[in-house]
Amino acid sequence: MGGHKTHKFDLPEIWFCLLARQSYTVYAGILLLLLSHLLICTSALKVGQTCIMDRNCDGGLHCEACVANGNLRRRCTRIQPVNPTAKVKGLPFNRYSWLTTHNSFAISGQKSATGSTILAPTNQQDSVTSQLNGLVAKDEVGHGWGVFVGSGWGQHSSHLISSILKENGVRGLMLDLYDFNNDIWLCHSFGGKCYNFTAFQPAINTLKEIQVFLEANPTEIVTIIIEDYVTSPQGLTKVFDAAGLRKYWFPVSRMPKNGEDWPTVDDMAQKNQRLVVFTSKSAKEASEGIAYEWKYLVENQYGDGGMKAGSCPNRAESSPMNTTSRSLVLQNFFRDSPVQAESCKDNSAPLLSMVNTCYQASGKRWPNFIAVDFYKRSDGGGAPESVDVANGNLVCGCSNIAFCKVNGTFGACELPKADMAPSPGTDVVAQKSSVTSLGIELSPLKFLFGTFSTTILLLLWL
Ligand SMILES: *[C@@H]1O[C@H](CO)[C@@H](O)[C@H](O)[C@H]1NC(C)=O
Ligand SMILES: *[C@@H]1O[C@H](CO)[C@@H](O)[C@H](O)[C@H]1NC(C)=O
Ligand SMILES: *[C@@H]1O[C@H](CO)[C@@H](O)[C@H](O)[C@H]1NC(C)=O
Repeated sequence: MGGHKTHKFDLPEIWFCLLARQSYTVYAGILLLLLSHLLICTSALKVGQTCIMDRNCDGGLHCEACVANGNLRRRCTRIQPVNPTAKVKGLPFNRYSWLTTHNSFAISGQKSATGSTILAPTNQQDSVTSQLNGLVAKDEVGHGWGVFVGSGWGQHSSHLISSILKENGVRGLMLDLYDFNNDIWLCHSFGGKCYNFTAFQPAINTLKEIQVFLEANPTEIVTIIIEDYVTSPQGLTKVFDAAGLRKYWFPVSRMPKNGEDWPTVDDMAQKNQRLVVFTSKSAKEASEGIAYEWKYLVENQYGDGGMKAGSCPNRAESSPMNTTSRSLVLQNFFRDSPVQAESCKDNSAPLLSMVNTCYQASGKRWPNFIAVDFYKRSDGGGAPESVDVANGNLVCGCSNIAFCKVNGTFGACELPKADMAPSPGTDVVAQKSSVTSLGIELSPLKFLFGTFSTTILLLLWL
């Protein structure tokens, strides 16, 4: 937090100033309005700190409670992993871990593009574009007016809207594709069939979102994992071509077949082979050049069967988890039926614990993809932290990517900075954070007092 200039005024000081300048009543009123506004606009809070809304929190965080875990207080929780390629560049693709959304297309609150109300379960909260981009304001870019905390107010570094930058977000997308309405649709099945009330939208819409992202981010790599129900001839080929995704295609011929390393991410970017696609239908590798998923990766049981603490069995279609002739490891961690309210609990300690369980089961290999429902939800570090742990181990041999040295060699770990150290115990992080965040802690009591005193002042002066 070295860059934070903190200058605090005590409340009596404000009173004195205001009382001494009766003629400035109007100005004071405006000032106080501004203050109460700034309370709402406060930003730069760290993981675990109390917040009111998303923009109170640092980049890569959002504001939520996790009632399922008994956390009634809204606090800043993580929604983005650390970008591993920004830490150590140029490793093989299989030396990184990517946050993956299960049923990325099944977004809450959407109507079916058929016009029908959707009766199928939903698994995510934001659009695929938002999942990929994770648009947030970047830290350490400027100083602005900060926070009002009951006994004082001051200036501290804050995010500026003008500094919105793209950060690493979701890089694996699980899509269920069906023949429907003479087209390919993103759908949930009901007895193996797509209906108006289970159909989300034509696949081309989402594939075009991915195309826009790849176009705008020339070094980013996206993996699509298709649950494939398409039987129309060349159906997938046609829709990927129509979406303009062919030019990013990573060819099956370059995928390692016997447990070797993948090409490096730099090589993939240079050749513009930045879209990795897997299908669940084996025949399509020969007929359409789409990689048959389980030739290249192992995957644990999905649904409830994959959430039993201490065991990480492979799903039926996959080789055993410890099959090292498959270079990639995918870890599922989501329920049979998605429950948004419970997902914050699932995505917290149980997920991280399963990362370790699956590491052991996979022949001491960390997952390259961690797939969850409601990826934004957790009680602290959540799925992004699990991805950071996997990346730390994969990229530099440290227990978290945050501890990897930039451009460092394997095994070169850096002691975490106190205010940004993600760790399995997010509450510990939260406590550390609030100690180091000089006067911007918003404890519930202080917050109440702040609101109360602001209101009194407003009543007095307006
Ligand atoms: C399904 O939606 C289409 C519009 O996309 C409509 O033409 C059709 O009548 C609907 N079918 C049913 C059974 O409601
Ligand atoms: C791989 O895992 C299976 C269980 O799925 C186990 O029986 C087998 O011994 C393991 N093989 C190796 C080489 O560890
Ligand atoms: C890391 O390496 C890249 C080139 O690969 C270079 O541009 C960057 O400045 C390096 N960063 C540090 C901190 O060494």
